[in-house]
Amino acid sequence: MESFIEFIDVNLEFNGKPILSGISFKVCKPELVLILGPNGAGKTTLLRLIVGMLKPSSGFVRVLGRDPHRDRSTRRLIGYVPQRERIDPSIPMLVKDVILMGRLLSKQLPRIVTYKDEEEALNIASKLGIDDLWYESYSHLSGGEQQRVLIARALASDPRILLLDEPFSAIDASSMKHIVDTVYEEYRRGVCMMVVLHDATPLMEHATKILLLNKRLIAFGDPDTVLREDLLKETYMRTIHFYVRDGTRFMGGVDSHA
Ligand SMILES: Nc1ncnc2c1ncn2[C@@H]1O[C@H](COP(=O)(O)OP(=O)(O)OP(=O)(O)O)[C@@H](O)[C@H]1O
Ligand SMILES: [Mg+2]
Repeated sequence: MESFIEFIDVNLEFNGKPILSGISFKVCKPELVLILGPNGAGKTTLLRLIVGMLKPSSGFVRVLGRDPHRDRSTRRLIGYVPQRERIDPSIPMLVKDVILMGRLLSKQLPRIVTYKDEEEALNIASKLGIDDLWYESYSHLSGGEQQRVLIARALASDPRILLLDEPFSAIDASSMKHIVDTVYEEYRRGVCMMVVLHDATPLMEHATKILLLNKRLIAFGDPDTVLREDLLKETYMRTIHFYVRDGTRFMGGVDSHA
């Protein structure tokens, strides 16, 4: 069976400096993967390798059986919401235009918006709680609203894989709930989700796999086997406390000294 994402001994260097070393893992079916690691661990770089924006210095990346860097058509199967994305505020775009852009890019030529496209895009917006912003100017929205519009745009292309890089930065509790529910629902529909997080708590109860990264792969597997204090200490190089309340695992404080 064709795997969703596979890394085989991937190394990546920038100007001779190793950023990722010896990364191997395989996501065989749709999973909800959380990627955890400290600043500079290479989390964003790992996502950019999956999208095909970067090429490994050595080793292989396979996405749905293809090399995403060489085979640019793979890009259409992936929704990617980067950590920081700016849409030029001088370009006047309505929220509906931004979301429909995702829908259009996934279509063959001629790219024409149909009534059905608009209906489906609006449906995605309502799941994320931004349907009432449909005719608003994108550049006038708050950071959290813009973040949800960008997630809606990625989903509108009906991807098989969705990559979210820190979707909860600048997000209040109600926006976070919309995103958590949407992420889980998309995973249940069969979309393979990879989510980079600093605090895993909001998605912990839904995660099916955890990937611990710090330039090399510290661990990849089921939450129960990976969320061990020794592996987290190896990842963050300091002690991370865990606590469980009502069956949910929370990431606790970080000791300032190991
Ligand atoms: N285009 C680039 N050229 C040179 N170095 C880069 C480039 N992109 C990333 N790096 C370096 O690679 C390392 C990993 O960066 P990356 O952005 O992947 O980390 P991250 O885990 O996403 O960190 P954060 O939690 O801060 O977002 C950093 O040391 C960064 O400076
Ligand atoms: Mg990053």
